[in-house]
Amino acid sequence: MNSKVEIFCLCDNNIYKKGLYGEHGLCYLIKTDTHSILFDSGQGLALRHNSAVMRHKLEEIDLAVISHGHFDHCGGLQFALKQRKSLPIYAHPDIFSRKYRVEQDEKDSRYVGSPYTRATLEKWGAQLELDSKPREIGPGILLTGSIPRPYPPEIEDESLCIEVEGEMQRDDFVEEQGLIIDTVEGPLLITGCTHAGIKNTMEHALQVSGRDSLFAVSGGLHLLKAAPEVISEAVETIKSFGVEHVAVSHCTGIRAIARFEEAFGNNFHSLTAGESISFP
Ligand SMILES: [Fe+2]
Ligand SMILES: [Fe+2]
Repeated sequence: MNSKVEIFCLCDNNIYKKGLYGEHGLCYLIKTDTHSILFDSGQGLALRHNSAVMRHKLEEIDLAVISHGHFDHCGGLQFALKQRKSLPIYAHPDIFSRKYRVEQDEKDSRYVGSPYTRATLEKWGAQLELDSKPREIGPGILLTGSIPRPYPPEIEDESLCIEVEGEMQRDDFVEEQGLIIDTVEGPLLITGCTHAGIKNTMEHALQVSGRDSLFAVSGGLHLLKAAPEVISEAVETIKSFGVEHVAVSHCTGIRAIARFEEAFGNNFHSLTAGESISFP
């Protein structure tokens, strides 16, 4: 149980104040009673600039968690490893899978996976802690492990693929994980892009934590291209898990952000680069 948990947003698609860089991606610095955690790392440029402007010393972090293998979540690891030698990095073994966005117009298709191989990260000093199962990585800090998909995700992005033995397949994001942190008010779920779907991610979070509700959710909720009725359903889903506070970043999308603010009022929080939130 953590008496206080603080989240500082170091990288987001949007910025809170002049002088910071906005960048498509997500990076949080999370401080619990015992640990300073880098959750995702953006593409890299914003992390380097914003951490300096916000005066956060990455050499003081204890460990990093990478939610999934997209470049806008693991791109900043090179910079993080320069600041913090021998950084322990917790992730699923499949974060290095070959990920692509495949568009109908071929010139728009591109590689969107990790810019670094496992060997490169290790050469830079990374202590990779790769596992697909749920695990406790600190006091009251739980990684969810791979997220099952009993329900179809709210948004299924058909253009996101992985290359397996030369063939393009739909990316099911088996490597995606969330972080659950115990606060005095209840569990806080932190998620990178929520490709596995909001309902699937939250239900799995309850299962692995053995809790019956979640107190807060923070992260990218992947509703950028969602229709209004899908957004309304997502709001209801989140409420059905007992969630009191919602803090949104990255791929949540402006229309969904507006709906969350309407639904959660004073318990809605925007987490763009430069903003922070603390529980309690
Ligand atoms: Fe993302
Ligand atoms: Fe992603």
